[in-house]
Amino acid sequence: MQERRQHVAIEANLPAQKMHEVCTQGGLVLDIASRMVENCIGLFALPMGVASNMRVDGTDVLVPMVIEEPSVIAAVGQAALWVRESSGGLGFCTEVMPAHTYAQLLFAEVPDRERAMDMLRTHERELLSLANAALPKLVLRGGGARAMRVRALGTPCAQGLALDITLDCVDAMGANLANTLAESLRSRASELVGVPARLAILSNLADERLAHATVRIPLATWSTAACAGADVAVRVVEASRLAQADVYRAVTHNKGIMNGVGAVALATGNDWRALEAGAHGYSAMGAGYKPLATWHVEADVLVGTLCMPMAVGTVGGATKVHEGVKVALAMMGNPSARRLAAVMASVGLASNLAALVALTTVGIQAGHMRLHARKSERLPEG
Ligand code: MEV
Repeated sequence: MQERRQHVAIEANLPAQKMHEVCTQGGLVLDIASRMVENCIGLFALPMGVASNMRVDGTDVLVPMVIEEPSVIAAVGQAALWVRESSGGLGFCTEVMPAHTYAQLLFAEVPDRERAMDMLRTHERELLSLANAALPKLVLRGGGARAMRVRALGTPCAQGLALDITLDCVDAMGANLANTLAESLRSRASELVGVPARLAILSNLADERLAHATVRIPLATWSTAACAGADVAVRVVEASRLAQADVYRAVTHNKGIMNGVGAVALATGNDWRALEAGAHGYSAMGAGYKPLATWHVEADVLVGTLCMPMAVGTVGGATKVHEGVKVALAMMGNPSARRLAAVMASVGLASNLAALVALTTVGIQAGHMRLHARKSERLPEG
């Protein structure tokens, strides 16, 4: 463990002492913890590991992962190696939308809804200016309110309406910014609508903040421990189609993706509940719940794509106070929020590929058993 730490410290240009402290003490002291949450009684630890072999958009990255489940980190490293060896040096290819999140004002009972919607639309400029006036620092950093949308709601709020403001939160996750924005508009928007807004809050369905990751693995040069690439690819594609066909399977398929995404979220101090809510909400948009990643074969190449909302930040929140989070971000080269989102989407896709390969070849228990055996060397039964 010490050697690994030294290696990471050198790669990430971190003082060895700092690395040692964070890795042995969890990066959080009681005094800070007691200012983070209420009724604090102490700290609670989880293992931190590093996924190796990850290359995203042609650049190598060490990926810190915090997770209690064995196999996930090894699985991501294994899939990343397959991709690294076969993608012509690019690794995972990504596209990430700007950090646009929504602030919402929700009205439950609007007597003259059509008129209220018109009033809001007519006053769009005024509302966006009010919103930006409430977030001067964000505007200075290049962010701010960008657009608004008014929607009529359905049953059981048949007279309800939603005002969604799109906010560019640059490198922040944006929950506090969106909440501040929503509250700053509450009074004026309520006047325009004619009744009070019932809720003023961000939406965790960040469908304008999507991260796409793609991998292309030529079958001729790919092989896994269990069988040749062409055989595995057929099975991975079948597993992908099963997730499209069955919601029970799709949820488990997505859970495997969130194993990777959530572990990086935890390490980097991001709100993994928000990511989970957004991922499953996005999966359920449109016709039925769908897998976040799918696989197909195209001209002797296995192609995997993942698309999901990725509301993550690299400034504010825990990034300011948690030494472990600071070290984790340093390990990744102190990325922008968009680069972090790109890496997390890639880790999600890697986690999915490794799970599908294990499931369709040796089976998940055989894949997990070796690591569980390692764990039981040190831990009591049960
Ligand atoms: C286990 O944590 C995750 C898997 O169930 C994911 C999957 O079934 O695709 C292995």
